[in-house]
Amino acid sequence: MLVLGLETSCDETAAAVVARDADGRGRILSNVVLSQVEAHAAFGGVVPEVAARAHVEAIDGVVRAALTEAGVALSAVDAVAATAGPGLIGGVLVGLTTAKALAFAAGKPLVAVNHLEGHALTARLTDGVAFPYLLLLVSGGHTQIVRVDGVGRYRRLGTTIDDALGEAFDKTAKLLGLGYPGGPAVERAAAAGDPSRFALPRPMTGRKAPDFSFSGLKTAVRLEAEAAAPLGPKDVADLCAAFQAAVGDVVADRVGIALRAFRADAADVQPVLVVAGGVAANRSIAARLRGLADREGARLIVPPLALCTDNGAMIAWAGAERLALGLHDDLAAPARARWPLDGDTAPVVGHGRLGAKV
Ligand code: KG4
Ligand code: ZN
Repeated sequence: MLVLGLETSCDETAAAVVARDADGRGRILSNVVLSQVEAHAAFGGVVPEVAARAHVEAIDGVVRAALTEAGVALSAVDAVAATAGPGLIGGVLVGLTTAKALAFAAGKPLVAVNHLEGHALTARLTDGVAFPYLLLLVSGGHTQIVRVDGVGRYRRLGTTIDDALGEAFDKTAKLLGLGYPGGPAVERAAAAGDPSRFALPRPMTGRKAPDFSFSGLKTAVRLEAEAAAPLGPKDVADLCAAFQAAVGDVVADRVGIALRAFRADAADVQPVLVVAGGVAANRSIAARLRGLADREGARLIVPPLALCTDNGAMIAWAGAERLALGLHDDLAAPARARWPLDGDTAPVVGHGRLGAKV
């Protein structure tokens, strides 16, 4: 089975062709990602209207490149999949409408994919992981812990009640004058810093439900930065190191709670923890998760970074998994700015950032 997948929900215009063999194994035939990061850098974050226009300009060429690189004609694919949400609605509309047009023109089924499902199922493409497993999704727009029981079967165990973790990195970088995207800049600066000079809070640690909150931590960084101003490179490095240490403690505590709950529910299987999202690139957080997995006897899977961040292959793969179960959508499938993976989960108080990056 061959699936073409399109992803346009944030600031990457991406398309890929993925094969799913009869035994359920996946292969990536092409994975083209065009980042808009330069277009948004001047604004210090993703500007929805700028993103939508850039997607319109790039999508045809990106799709053509994905098909050419895969050596596959549009007539040879079994379905066209696209992110239908959640995300910045202008961008989602560009990718979904393009996919509808391609599917209609080529007479192929359309699969409208939830972007989060793309992240959730990637480890089955890269590592053939069996259900159930635990997913930690930490990106610029999402911070969630999800139990993945099957295709379309998700239970959200925890989420952020305010900022996403990547967003907290980006805002911290901005207030310390480190530029965008902030995660890599904060990690670089932290390498030379002393994590113990500033005492920062560890929000939500010790609570029973594995939820997150990062806006207070960001405010604490701002207050320390204002007290230490004017900031020299050493101050910035120490603040970044303290921030990263606090985040590491929070992530280890929250994921630890979820892992233990997961194990209590499924005592007969070794717990598997899958990490996705751009923040997975952070070596200090990855090391904390590795330590936690070792302590808890869990298997940790971190897909290659190019598949942790937004890409078309994860959408094509989710499309293939759905199609293999006979699931596809008609051409009236709506684009959705909001689309929780777990429809049964009540929204967490405080969660509701309109226009947020996904
Ligand atoms: O998954 P992603 O590429 O895009 C979405 O947000 O969907 O994630 C981007 C986020 C940004 O907030 C960026 O600052 C963060 O991931 N990030 C990092 C690192 N590299 C990227 N955060 C911490 N440390 C990093 N090394
Ligand atoms: Zn994403």
